[in-house]
Amino acid sequence: MGLDIARASLHELGTLDGDSIIVGEIDDKLVNLPSYRELYHRWEKQQWSTQDLDFSIDRQDWANVAEENRPIWISGFVVFFQGEVSVVNNLIPYLAAVPTEEQRIFLTTQLVDEARHATFFDKFFREALLMEGPDIESILVKIRPLIQPGQRQILMEGLVEIGQKLHDEPTNMAYLVEGITLYHIITEGTLALAGQRNMLNRNKRMGWYPGFQQGFTAIARDESRHVLFGVKFLREAVQQNPSHAAIIRNTIARWMPQIHQTLYLPEMQRVVLTAFGEDPNDIINFGMNSLRKKLKVIGVKHDF
Ligand SMILES: [Fe+2]
Ligand SMILES: [Fe+2]
Repeated sequence: MGLDIARASLHELGTLDGDSIIVGEIDDKLVNLPSYRELYHRWEKQQWSTQDLDFSIDRQDWANVAEENRPIWISGFVVFFQGEVSVVNNLIPYLAAVPTEEQRIFLTTQLVDEARHATFFDKFFREALLMEGPDIESILVKIRPLIQPGQRQILMEGLVEIGQKLHDEPTNMAYLVEGITLYHIITEGTLALAGQRNMLNRNKRMGWYPGFQQGFTAIARDESRHVLFGVKFLREAVQQNPSHAAIIRNTIARWMPQIHQTLYLPEMQRVVLTAFGEDPNDIINFGMNSLRKKLKVIGVKHDF
């Protein structure tokens, strides 16, 4: 495949599967990490618009899903919608806390990205899943009961807790290291990445949700920049002060039960995926391997 993912259009991105975008753009590129300036330049080149997406076929695809199967399939969309809104809400303290202008400029682009991702899901829920409400919160209120406890604890409690600590003490480097571990490495680089790859691969295989596939692949490309930022930041932090490795290790250990709960799918989903010919352990295997790869690059020893 000769497609240049770095410069691909929305339409071209929509032809990819999850492995091309996730493994190709992130896990294989951890060796030579780009500079913060290069990551910024990528952002300038990789703009896309939620307004260019057409969800009319997606709406048909959703209409064809039997009523009793809808809770299973919608739960994947729901956790990403809440996830994008949560990361928008909790990134701002990081902008004030990072020590260099290059890091701050990059994180400013990430904030815009996360706003666009939240807008993408709002549009998808309205135009494809036909949910109604005057604003984003009115839709989230209806769908939040579908979020699993582990996902809720990370997205709606953990990110808020460390964001508040960083807000109160923006020069506390230990908090910043903990925050980037939870935000960029656990939430984006492990949980979101594994879930995205799984959904993108399935949609590609089944030919489902072509509008969603375009936007969600563009989101995965954006996330690759965010994750590379996090890996780079933490690797430098450990090089500057080896005691930061313990903070990263402790943060991973603290959240490991929730990571497991999120990546080990509920029984109902496991049954459905098995019937679809998928291995329900694929997500957790991929996610844990991906986390190990990142910790190796950062320079943190672990025992999981
Ligand atoms: Fe995002
Ligand atoms: Fe992100």
